[in-house]
Amino acid sequence: MNVSLDAALAEAEARYSAANTASAQRHAAAREAMPGGNTRTVLHYSPFPLAWARGAGATLTDLDGHDYIDFLGEYSAGLYGHSNPLIQAALKQAIEDGTVLGGPNRYEAELASLIKSRFPSLQRLRFCNSGTEANVFALMTARAVTGRGKIMVFDGGYHGGVLYFGHGGIPINLPLDWVVAPYNDIDGTLALLREHSADLAAILVEPMLGSGGCLPARRDFLAALRHAASEFGIILIFDEVMTSRLSSGGLQAAMGVTPDMTTLGKYLGGGSSFGAFGGRSDIMAHYDPEQPGHWPHAGTFNNNVLSMAAGLTGLRDIYTPAAATMLNARGDTLRDGLNALARKHGAALCATGIGSFIGLHFAGTVPDHPEHLGAEEEARHGKLHKLMHLDFIDAGLFFARRGYMALSLAITEADIARFLAQTEEFIVSRRALMDG
Ligand SMILES: Cc1ncc(COP(=O)(O)O)c(C=O)c1O
Repeated sequence: MNVSLDAALAEAEARYSAANTASAQRHAAAREAMPGGNTRTVLHYSPFPLAWARGAGATLTDLDGHDYIDFLGEYSAGLYGHSNPLIQAALKQAIEDGTVLGGPNRYEAELASLIKSRFPSLQRLRFCNSGTEANVFALMTARAVTGRGKIMVFDGGYHGGVLYFGHGGIPINLPLDWVVAPYNDIDGTLALLREHSADLAAILVEPMLGSGGCLPARRDFLAALRHAASEFGIILIFDEVMTSRLSSGGLQAAMGVTPDMTTLGKYLGGGSSFGAFGGRSDIMAHYDPEQPGHWPHAGTFNNNVLSMAAGLTGLRDIYTPAAATMLNARGDTLRDGLNALARKHGAALCATGIGSFIGLHFAGTVPDHPEHLGAEEEARHGKLHKLMHLDFIDAGLFFARRGYMALSLAITEADIARFLAQTEEFIVSRRALMDG
């Protein structure tokens, strides 16, 4: 096909707009009350996002009535798929029993013990409402415990709406004293750690950069952080909001590196809002209300019945260690298949990630840390991601525009085969545009 990238995009966008008039109308109406018609920035993409009417299994249905196989999995919160009968039954039971009871319920302690039994660092934990909140509590806990103010984070790291460290950070980040270190760079990070050691309260790190492109940390990098944190009395926090699904005990168990604190979120609420933070029992003891001088930890919905009930059923009865192994193997099959196709066709496409997470990049290989491309190359990659997104939507396959996928338990081997076939079709038909 001998057309320019811009011409191909214009054609794909016109096709998309014509096919999705109900989503377009919803978007136009939404703009009246919400800036850009949006209340969660990552859900916005041009020319307008598809709006979902419902989901069942691994299928999403949009307002225009089209079905898609859902490879996005609600940015990893949708691990159980859209209609798992056990989750549905747990939610129905919880609704029947009443949802705003104003006291401890029958679910929360069992969910806490189950999480504690799986994640090596979590000797004690507390629930909150989101991954962002979990990270805020973990950071403020570390500051209070150490009496120090600075926090080390990593270039490309994402820890929530006010904790974003890609592309130089954002204007609405929390006004803490940040030290931004280079991911997977032991020498560079140790130099910064030594320089700031007396002032650092915490090192906050994702064991795999999630929104930063599904780039795994090397084990020796995490081990070096562990060693330095102990040496300098800094609290090492693993943000496993995304990665906790990558083995039955998260990446900390898989990598054999135990942080002082861990934050969790996403699927652990069984599809309802969820966050948790915890760690060493001496640190978490500050939150024991039976002790004099304890610290308060508030949150009306911390133990909300829907999240606790669905979360417990999900982790206890569905996401067993065997299920985690199966799902991550399925993700490996897809990632390996994508990379094999790219190699077969000599195409500049590369799939990164671990297990059930996949990041797509328009490059033959990518480094183990975020790459800062020039403006022109960055724009070209953005256009290729948009073209791929629109082409795959046209073929009934959905994932995030930036090339991110989080497989759910509902995804089948046949779904994976269909995704691979569509990828080959994309490479063959769009090859000239990918080569630039
Ligand atoms: C690694 C990581 N930390 C924290 C968060 C924030 O979680 P939430 O969206 O529940 O606030 C996310 C969300 O994508 C995440 O990927």
